[in-house]
Amino acid sequence: MHTPQQPEEKKQFVREKFSSISTHYDLLNSLLSLHIDRYWRWRTTRQLKHAPNGWVLDLCAGTLPLALELTRQAPGRRVLAVDFCEDMLRAGISRLPKDGVSRRIHPVCGDGEAIPVASSSCKGCTIAFGIRNLGTAERGLSEMHRILEPGGRLIILEFSRPTSPLIKPLYNFYLNKVLPVIAGRISGDKEAYQYLASSIAAFYEPQTLLGLMQAAGFQNVHRIALTFGIVSMYIGDVSTKGNGVA
Ligand SMILES: C[S@@+](CC[C@H](N)C(=O)[O-])C[C@H]1O[C@@H](n2cnc3c(N)ncnc32)[C@H](O)[C@@H]1O
Repeated sequence: MHTPQQPEEKKQFVREKFSSISTHYDLLNSLLSLHIDRYWRWRTTRQLKHAPNGWVLDLCAGTLPLALELTRQAPGRRVLAVDFCEDMLRAGISRLPKDGVSRRIHPVCGDGEAIPVASSSCKGCTIAFGIRNLGTAERGLSEMHRILEPGGRLIILEFSRPTSPLIKPLYNFYLNKVLPVIAGRISGDKEAYQYLASSIAAFYEPQTLLGLMQAAGFQNVHRIALTFGIVSMYIGDVSTKGNGVA
């Protein structure tokens, strides 16, 4: 499989792949992660429990599972859910529960590398399984820093690579051999799930990503590994003096 390396080509490829699997995305997520993805998003949202009111930007929001968890955990919170794949957002909107929780979610079609949101306007920013897909992660991080208020927090949830000698071979076999076949049959797009495996393999080491967060201006950056290190949360705060953006 050929995955484009140039940022603009990669973005187009990624948008097309998510568009093609959008109607099966939620089902496959739950099935292939044995429902553990819900726990990962719950843990991510808990990192914002000190900020239960105001706006949170959920970037690369996809079918809105994290946006829903963010609004469920805090009745005073509003979520701006930004994604550049309209089909993913539409699939999510069509399945939103018809209650007050959903009314606090505001889906917007936009690019994570040029976020259509005013500077210093959000208390929190989350990005679940999205940063790996950006054309240029550094540009996305700088944008996430820009839109956060002084003292605001970013939480990145992303796949990492387990290091345990027991788990690693099993996980690699599942990710590279089992998952693309099952997910390919159900979604009709095997290439999308081959891309998932290859993008996880090619993604930054945790220390490198923490370094990029620091370079973008985030403070107190740290990582919390979950489920044998299959995924990690990366957390960083904007200085209480602000992000330097007027
Ligand atoms: C794996 S999905 C994650 C969806 C959701 N956050 C979740 O937890 O399931 C990645 C999403 O990132 C979006 N995406 C990738 N690059 C993007 C970009 N540059 N700007 C906005 N969205 C982007 C894709 O369209 C896709 O919906």
